[in-house]
Amino acid sequence: MKQQARIALLCGVCVSLGASFAWAQEQYEPEPLWAYAWSTQPQPGDQPRPQIPPSRDLRPGDDPEEVARLRTVEGSSATYSRMDVRDGHDVIDWFPGDHPLMPDIIRHGPASLMTERGRGCGSCHLPNGKGRPENAPPAGQPAAYTIQQLQDMRNGLRYSADPRKPNSSTMNALAEAMTEEEMQEAAEYFAAIPWTPWMNVMEADLIPEMHLEEGNMYITVGTEPTEPLAGRIVETPVDEHQANFLRNPRSPWNVYVPTGSLARGEKLVTTGAGKTIQCGICHGSDLMGLASIPGIAGRSPSYMMRQLYDMKRGTRNGLSVQLMKPIIANLTVDDMTAIVAYLASITPPTPAPTDAQ
Ligand code: HEC
Ligand code: HEC
Repeated sequence: MKQQARIALLCGVCVSLGASFAWAQEQYEPEPLWAYAWSTQPQPGDQPRPQIPPSRDLRPGDDPEEVARLRTVEGSSATYSRMDVRDGHDVIDWFPGDHPLMPDIIRHGPASLMTERGRGCGSCHLPNGKGRPENAPPAGQPAAYTIQQLQDMRNGLRYSADPRKPNSSTMNALAEAMTEEEMQEAAEYFAAIPWTPWMNVMEADLIPEMHLEEGNMYITVGTEPTEPLAGRIVETPVDEHQANFLRNPRSPWNVYVPTGSLARGEKLVTTGAGKTIQCGICHGSDLMGLASIPGIAGRSPSYMMRQLYDMKRGTRNGLSVQLMKPIIANLTVDDMTAIVAYLASITPPTPAPTDAQ
């Protein structure tokens, strides 16, 4: 009898736990997989697979001559080998004139990781800070904002809602390894680079066949539009060899967005459409940022989507994020897709050239 009572009690606990688990799950729509570059939803207990540390060593299957062969890209007088391209501890720089002189933190990474050859910020975010869909575009963001993000990451207030995302976990480890001075230096470096457009955003129902590099990004493999876009946004290099293999930071991206999303997104962003309020109130009338609030126009929509979803899930939860919480409270993943599609399509003004070298 005692035994039965105990089992009954346990069952009751299980049922209520199950119910609250289901309830907790119901609060969130499933992850927009395209934004995180996975083909399946994360499972409980998933961990990030550690990224290959930066090194100049040969990898299995490498042809030593091919890896050491010097290569060029159009418009640059620099030459780099594939080994140089892969060595994230000593960031390659095809176009030094496109940005200020890279300080050590951008080129080599945090001083505390020198002996283990930590990554320079420029290896993922590119020396011009434009970043790629799988990481983030820090160029042109206010220095105070960037410092706050690095502190939030270090303090466990900002991480990816998808526990598998390998480079987010590397990013958090880098933020933990940085000194206050390095944060300041990196933030000022990126803030000094004006944001300029580099994406071709187009509405589509069908897109060329894509290969999904899981946890990373989409690579175009087809030539004719045969693959249904099906509500996703797909961001892919125009020239994979340039953007990916050679990491040419001037190589642009194609961005396919659902038909109708641009007009719908524009309405949400500029009027709130009864679901939210105009983004320009805080992000600036041109959405290029205001005081310490970041710019959101003309930037990677996959990155922007991850931020909105991470904020909804509470994995991005710094003090200033509390201002964004009511903004996104009534937005569905579909609304946010339209919003980031429209934001990406806004072409920021190209700044007038200066004499600065
Ligand atoms: C391994 C690749 C990688 C390296 C190296 C890297 N980052 Fe990041 N960074 C990321 C990823 C991934 C994110 C977050 C993307 C996301 O949340 O989806 C990110 C986000 C950021 C953001 C947030 C941008 C924003 O708009 O809020 C900042 C700032 C940043 N990184 C700065 C740095 C600095 C400074 C360094 C050098 C110490 C660095 N990163 C090195 C991958 C990297
Ligand atoms: C009440 C002010 C306010 C309004 C209105 C607002 N935002 Fe924000 N938003 C912020 C603040 C503050 C941050 C920075 C949060 C932080 O420091 O982590 C932010 C950050 C963001 C980010 C992350 C940017 C990055 O680089 O990581 C996105 C995306 C964003 N907002 C989108 C929007 C959109 C879309 C709208 C309109 C629907 C909007 N915001 C309206 C205050 C606002």
